[in-house]
Amino acid sequence: MSRSTEKLQDESLKGKDSSLADVETKMDNQELPIDGFDHVEIYAGNAKQAAYYYQVGFGFELVGYSGLETGNRESVSYVLRQGSVTLVISGNYKSSSPIAKFISDHGDGVKCIGFKVKDAVKSYELALSRGAKSVQEPVTIKDEFGIYTSSMIETYGDTIHRFVDRNNYRQNFAPNFKTKTNDLARPTSLMSIDHIVANVEMKQLDAYVAFYQKIFGFYVYQYFDASDISTQYSALVSKVMANKSGTVKLPINEPYPAKFKSQIQEYIDFNEGCGVQHIAITTKDIVSTVSTLSKNGIEFLKVPKNYYETLTDRVGKIDENIDDLANLGILVDRDDDGYLLQIFSKPVQDRPTLFFEIIQRRGAKGFGKGNFQALFESIEREQKLRGNL
Ligand code: FE2
Repeated sequence: MSRSTEKLQDESLKGKDSSLADVETKMDNQELPIDGFDHVEIYAGNAKQAAYYYQVGFGFELVGYSGLETGNRESVSYVLRQGSVTLVISGNYKSSSPIAKFISDHGDGVKCIGFKVKDAVKSYELALSRGAKSVQEPVTIKDEFGIYTSSMIETYGDTIHRFVDRNNYRQNFAPNFKTKTNDLARPTSLMSIDHIVANVEMKQLDAYVAFYQKIFGFYVYQYFDASDISTQYSALVSKVMANKSGTVKLPINEPYPAKFKSQIQEYIDFNEGCGVQHIAITTKDIVSTVSTLSKNGIEFLKVPKNYYETLTDRVGKIDENIDDLANLGILVDRDDDGYLLQIFSKPVQDRPTLFFEIIQRRGAKGFGKGNFQALFESIEREQKLRGNL
């Protein structure tokens, strides 16, 4: 253990259980019912080209569009889908657009995490009664596809949550969108959103944990402290907020003081504030998925080959071929419930901000704690190349 890590533990972590642990949290508020992730909206400087990247690189299919041709003179959106994951890539036509302001401040990144709900009016009213700030009051629109209701509230930074009730709405993504398809997608068998991670500023973590407890009635599913997630250089603290059914998991990270700049601080510096750090998407066959993604040009973080020499000592017997995993750079971790395989993309835009995780769960319910050391050393090598360590 490095001296800096020892120092951190001595000074700040006395009495804390540094192991991965489920943390019982007092539930003051009844849970705001959420059926799962509905969509993630990404603002992009050139939505047309970003949509191409997500189709050709990640294998999402174009299913919908809103823009000048559909009568939308404010903004443009491409709706992309793979498995149950819906990404909406949105851009602006004019510098006066709020999307232009967001992109000027943060670069391309996640604006909205949409939740499927049974009632977007009640969800909104309950959230506001618990102190949430409104972005958009509930709006119900009837069109030839049915009835669609949505509402929006603020969360960390310039990020928002949209409540979507599409229970009586079919075929189309949303009113003012139209179906649009092409043959660009190179499918990669991505299935569903596993979790979406936020980076917040130092000493802000507890405020956002309280936010998700108070507004949503979520609980702290897991907790990682600086002794779990620290290398010689950088450290972070993380709490995973989740609903009881486990359909929504939102880990939140904050930087922790260390010898050199935390990877979380690098994100906050380049994002110019807090925001979504990564979106984790599941697959049933990570070797096949990551092979295709790599062929499509998606870049991943690599760990040194010696990671694989000791792999079975650490995680025991696994079904996958270790050489396949080593060639692709896929990481493995085991917890009480089984094991998981995971890999992290490099940032998907020029700013070192948003990236993607591909994850295959074989029973494990954690987030790959056993990989943190190897992974963060890999991230630091990249950070050093960028001159940001
Ligand atoms: Fe993750």
